[in-house]
Amino acid sequence: MNPNETPKVKFYSGHDVPIELHKVRIVQKLHLVPIERRLQALEEGGYNTFQLNTLDVFLDMLTDSGTNAMSDNQVSAMLRADDAYAGSQSFMRLQKAIEDVLGQKFLLPVHQGRAAENILGKAYVRKGSLVPMNYHFTTALAHITEYGGSIAELLYDEAYVIDSVHPFKGNMNIEKLEEVINLHGIENIPYIRMEASTNLIGGQPFSIQNLRDVRAIANKYGIRLVLDASLLGENAYLVKQREEEFKNSSMAEIIKVMTGLSDIVYFSARKLSSSRGGGICTNNEKVYRELEPLVPLFEGFLTYGGISVREVEAMAVGLYETLDETMICQSPEFIKYLVYEAKKYGIPMITPPGVLGAHVDAMKFCAHLPQTQYPAGALAAAFFLISGVRGMERGSVSNQRDEYGNETYADMELLRLAVPRRVFTLSQITYVIDRLHWLYENRELIGGLKFVYEPPVLRFFMGKLAPTSDWPQKLMAKFREDFGDSL
Ligand code: F0G
Repeated sequence: MNPNETPKVKFYSGHDVPIELHKVRIVQKLHLVPIERRLQALEEGGYNTFQLNTLDVFLDMLTDSGTNAMSDNQVSAMLRADDAYAGSQSFMRLQKAIEDVLGQKFLLPVHQGRAAENILGKAYVRKGSLVPMNYHFTTALAHITEYGGSIAELLYDEAYVIDSVHPFKGNMNIEKLEEVINLHGIENIPYIRMEASTNLIGGQPFSIQNLRDVRAIANKYGIRLVLDASLLGENAYLVKQREEEFKNSSMAEIIKVMTGLSDIVYFSARKLSSSRGGGICTNNEKVYRELEPLVPLFEGFLTYGGISVREVEAMAVGLYETLDETMICQSPEFIKYLVYEAKKYGIPMITPPGVLGAHVDAMKFCAHLPQTQYPAGALAAAFFLISGVRGMERGSVSNQRDEYGNETYADMELLRLAVPRRVFTLSQITYVIDRLHWLYENRELIGGLKFVYEPPVLRFFMGKLAPTSDWPQKLMAKFREDFGDSL
């Protein structure tokens, strides 16, 4: 067996345990502060988990972005960084990694994923443009609307079914894609965007067959296909697990098939390669030349693009490590464990388990709260209060208002509990499940939230909210009643 393949370690007990295939060599102390302090921290942070200070956070499950554990090889590569404004050897190594792993000849480095979205928007999106996509990501949508465009989300209906067995909920609806192209006109469609492991519907992958079908439509109408590859490794891992044709393929082969079907591949390296930075790559020289002038304008010179060269080195090594199934399987396997254990207590979770994190269905968890009171935001705040675990609201607070300033309610109200790669231990995951269980039994105590400060763009980052009643105090009192003086 290839040493980089997903291990199938069977336990004598019959338990399905996602065993860690790494050891911990550098550690960081965590802070589990008392619930009284956590309530104060929530009040100071406007009931928005983005506004918390990590000194008050026990398990930081806000995101995997820039928080995946780096490997020893990544950290050691950072020391050999070639600090040069132009022509750095570190960049040459990154270029080689992009060619070897993603099969792309041209690379434009950018400081993170949304910078790539800005450049694509600036180059291709105009007033009246429409970008069809499987589903939006917050920053992708914000940049398209910033340049006057709009989007069409084209998932199949099954993508919105929370508890499902469909293996590829991130698939694009091919019939609808063709309809949208005919309705809006090829000239108004600058590109089609496919997002690997569709983030906002619970980290759900698309199949390669679906990507091939999208490619065929793109060819038929002569429209570019742009792949958001931020979560490409995990999508490839799930293709291997779930798509018959690829069950014996290597990660390297699967990744190259996906990138080979795309005209432009962009990514957040904060996710893809467990580093910082981002990139736009292509094999099309014309596309490269169109985008090239925008990098020195917005990012930095073409051989660093706003990324520290140390991170450029870590990115190159991280890209190669994406091909190692024993690394890439860790987060999805922990998520699967968390999801199925939580479901044993009846907690409504998105299934099949996706990538990036476990997703709790707040609409069902807080069925007594209307969407106008932001159930996912309320659940994120309540869960932090009773556990010190910081998740992220992925619901209506994360949505943006429409062009007339009206509130738009999200298709799903989710609490995302991110499981960054190789960061948490199984006993910490067990704690998360335990506290989720308790909160589910006491869910009637969770009340709503309202905005008290609402920024005009990406409001979920800096917005401040307040509870609609004294429900946080009541929830805290119940916690003390049940847990005594436990942290
Ligand atoms: N595309 C996807 C699919 C993402 O998940 C992200 C970031 C971006 C683009 C933007 O990249 O943050 O480097 O600018 N997702 C993070 C998250 C923020 O928490 O899910 P960025």
